[in-house]
Amino acid sequence: MRIFIDSADLQEIRKWLAQGVVDGVTTNPSIMLKDGVYNIEDTTRQLCDLLGDRPVSIEVATNVPGEMIEQGREFASWSHSIVVKIPVVNESGESCLGVIHTLTREAVRVNATAIMSFNQAMLAAKAGATYVSIFGGRIADEGNDPTVVIRNVRHWLDDWNCQAEIIVGSMRGAIDIQTAAIAGAHVVTVPPQFLPKMIDHKYTRDTVRQFIADANKALKQIAAAKLDSEIAASAR
Ligand code: E4P
Repeated sequence: MRIFIDSADLQEIRKWLAQGVVDGVTTNPSIMLKDGVYNIEDTTRQLCDLLGDRPVSIEVATNVPGEMIEQGREFASWSHSIVVKIPVVNESGESCLGVIHTLTREAVRVNATAIMSFNQAMLAAKAGATYVSIFGGRIADEGNDPTVVIRNVRHWLDDWNCQAEIIVGSMRGAIDIQTAAIAGAHVVTVPPQFLPKMIDHKYTRDTVRQFIADANKALKQIAAAKLDSEIAASAR
């Protein structure tokens, strides 16, 4: 399973890349706004340079299918690592599967996004999406269990030998990352603020503290024993 960072914060991404846990990046217009990105092309190019061959998802910002295709083509021209995020429907509920299909046929990788149901994921995969992004937190916000959707989509993709991969996003807490991973996500995209919570544990700190204290005690005993034997040797 891969871990993507759900962020446009270059500093945070650089930090976690150095820890060896980042396989890609996802963004959306809200994330760009939150992270203070006002020059989308410039920041996206910097993200791609930082990520090397790892995928960087960037989302179109229009409801008009023709404009989505144009934006997708432009984004894809910026770097080979770009993946274009296309919502499965626009804000009027009109299907964007044709956009996904057109870009895919032009060899542009598509991340079909804002997916809340099994049927949406299935149709996006059929249309050729490279990734189907299931929004776990938002599914749970509506009182539904995202693990059921993730598990069912994973079974369907595997049963039909479909190449699309599941990204689970919309994380609300560290437990959601674990739940998505176990339910069958190919990728979990994680806001950087959850990563320190995932790695830290009070009892691990206490355990390390005990080992360091005992190592220091042992070093003192070794030094004392060495001194004793030097004194004994010089007395002979
Ligand atoms: C993932 O690709 C999405 O951009 C993101 O996880 C959405 O999260 P939200 O529901 O917190 O906005």
